[in-house]
Amino acid sequence: MRKKLVVGNWKMNGGLATNAKLLHALAGGWDARAGRALAVCVPFPYLGQAQAALMGTTIRWGAQNASEHAAGAYTGEVAASMLAEFGCHYAIVGHSERRQRYRESDAEVAAKASAVLAAGLTPIACVGETLAEREAGATEAVVLRQLDAVLLALSGAAKGMVVAYEPVWAIGTGKTARPEEAQAVHATLRARLEASGAGDVPLLYGGSVKGDNAAALFAQKDIDGALVGGASLQANEFLAIAGA
Ligand code: 13P
Repeated sequence: MRKKLVVGNWKMNGGLATNAKLLHALAGGWDARAGRALAVCVPFPYLGQAQAALMGTTIRWGAQNASEHAAGAYTGEVAASMLAEFGCHYAIVGHSERRQRYRESDAEVAAKASAVLAAGLTPIACVGETLAEREAGATEAVVLRQLDAVLLALSGAAKGMVVAYEPVWAIGTGKTARPEEAQAVHATLRARLEASGAGDVPLLYGGSVKGDNAAALFAQKDIDGALVGGASLQANEFLAIAGA
């Protein structure tokens, strides 16, 4: 069985004092165990803080975005090589909040995934349909279109990524996809990954994952862990998910 991976996405939350408490609680409360891995993706300014707090633990850290460019005149952007300097293991790319609010296209997300891999980090590429797309019966078409763009850009290197299925209607809404519903989409994604020679890529589910629904999700054949938003800001809840 694939290892279960639980990644926290703090989004634009935190502050030096609250982060210190949260990171301390995670470092002290996480029992490393076989078959489980834990990570947090924090806002850029806090990468050094996460690095200092988690270095020497089994908890990994990462960022929530990265530029598709290596360096240059891109005001406000952060290169993947800079993330590498802060010991990042992961960078999320293509989160639906970035696709929707910052108009990131499939091609940009794919280029970001490439840049992250080239810097030696693992991209966590997010895919997911909106409620309107689900209701129109377009879920499979949307997630495969999003995944295909990344697979095309990475080609043989796709084995080095993580994919997160995050139905947009389940993010921050308290509405989790039912485990079978999520599994159905994961099976579709898995088949496409297998066809591309990347069948063992970890497939995370994200969208209102909590301590009390994680176990049922993790029991599904193709759900290899979770990408957790709100619940990753509370140490107890996040550790409960990681241990589920
Ligand atoms: P919530 O867990 O707050 O629904 O957020 C999910 C998410 O977007 C993780 O990337």
